[in-house]
Amino acid sequence: MIITTSDIQQTMREVTAGIGADRTFVLCDVNTRQKCLPRLVLSSRTSGFPGFSGQLISIPAGDDNKNIDTLTLVWRALSEQGATRHSLLINLGGGVVTDIGGFAAASFKRGIRYINIPTTLLAMVDAATGGKTGINFAGLKNEVGAFHQPEHVVLCAAFLASLDKENLLSGMAEMMKHILIGHDTDAVAQMETLADTLADFQASGARQDEVARLVRHSVGIKERIVAQDPTEKGIRKALNLGHTLGHAIESLLLEKHTPVLHGYAVAWGMIGELYLSHVQTGLGVDVLRGATRLLSELYGPCPIGCNDYDRLYALMLHDKKNTSADAVRFVLLAAPGDIRLDCTAPREMIFEALDFIRER
Ligand SMILES: NC(=O)c1ccc[n+]([C@@H]2O[C@H](COP(=O)([O-])OP(=O)(O)OC[C@H]3O[C@@H](n4cnc5c(N)ncnc54)[C@H](O)[C@@H]3O)[C@@H](O)[C@H]2O)c1
Repeated sequence: MIITTSDIQQTMREVTAGIGADRTFVLCDVNTRQKCLPRLVLSSRTSGFPGFSGQLISIPAGDDNKNIDTLTLVWRALSEQGATRHSLLINLGGGVVTDIGGFAAASFKRGIRYINIPTTLLAMVDAATGGKTGINFAGLKNEVGAFHQPEHVVLCAAFLASLDKENLLSGMAEMMKHILIGHDTDAVAQMETLADTLADFQASGARQDEVARLVRHSVGIKERIVAQDPTEKGIRKALNLGHTLGHAIESLLLEKHTPVLHGYAVAWGMIGELYLSHVQTGLGVDVLRGATRLLSELYGPCPIGCNDYDRLYALMLHDKKNTSADAVRFVLLAAPGDIRLDCTAPREMIFEALDFIRER
């Protein structure tokens, strides 16, 4: 189901032939249409692979557009261009395209098949796999959606060549998280190797094969966890390491009109949650020091002050995913790979964790 390739056209010819859809549509956003589509099909008018006759659906880019209007645009295009229950949708883009395209596929004619070809690092290691699809609604992230698994996720590292440094770093934060939850030995050394490899790739395009290998390994950790718990009743919550504090930081900065990319907020959130892991569940000081030093070097200072703590705490309490009764819940580590779900921490200790993030 997850396929890694360096020849995207050949792989897609084989994969779509295996599916045998009556019509094949490609969904992209304005950026992936320009930067990624040419790697997939030679021209939007030629048949690049079986069933595809240039039926492109193009949507505006960015999370602001992951909304009902854009979803309607996709439904309308599918309907007007004659999609049936036996048609196939190929999502070519970052997490916005895979989330919205996945939800369009889940809902159109009560569900059609789809393939994700993620083109950002974040989508490759996270958003495109696991079957969570959806849109933002009424000011709330991912408020409406469905679980609908793609037929395949096709990973091709060549798409990353046109991605900017900030988006590479954003995706790398989720890879760091996968190392921390998936590896019981050498986690910090592996985080360092990952950072070095991506820095070389970003600077000169070197080590693309190594990037492809690291991406496949990283998404494999998510894949194994999702297979055990597809609808997040238990172990899938491990993927939320760094996300309780991270989501609150992301929301606060959005409120202040100084938004940051998701992975930056997760990286800062992980720094705080590794501190909580040290205090609450006995994470060793060497891992705490090594991992938080690297994360703060890579992602820089977190732009919050102590005046923000009350608002951040209120945001954590309002995040339904992270609360039980009146307590904020965290995923913590006793050691890398030794995961503790549904941990709680008192307000004062959460504020200490925020101090720790600011002092890095
Ligand atoms: N479903 C899930 O499990 C899951 C998990 C994590 C995140 N998400 C969602 O993913 C979204 C974020 O994903 P993202 O970070 O990929 O953002 P994105 O899709 O907005 O992509 C970031 C930017 O990069 C551009 N882009 C994409 N590929 C490119 C390429 N190869 N070269 C140049 N530019 C390119 C896009 O057009 C966009 O402007 C959020 O909506 C988030 O909620 C979903």
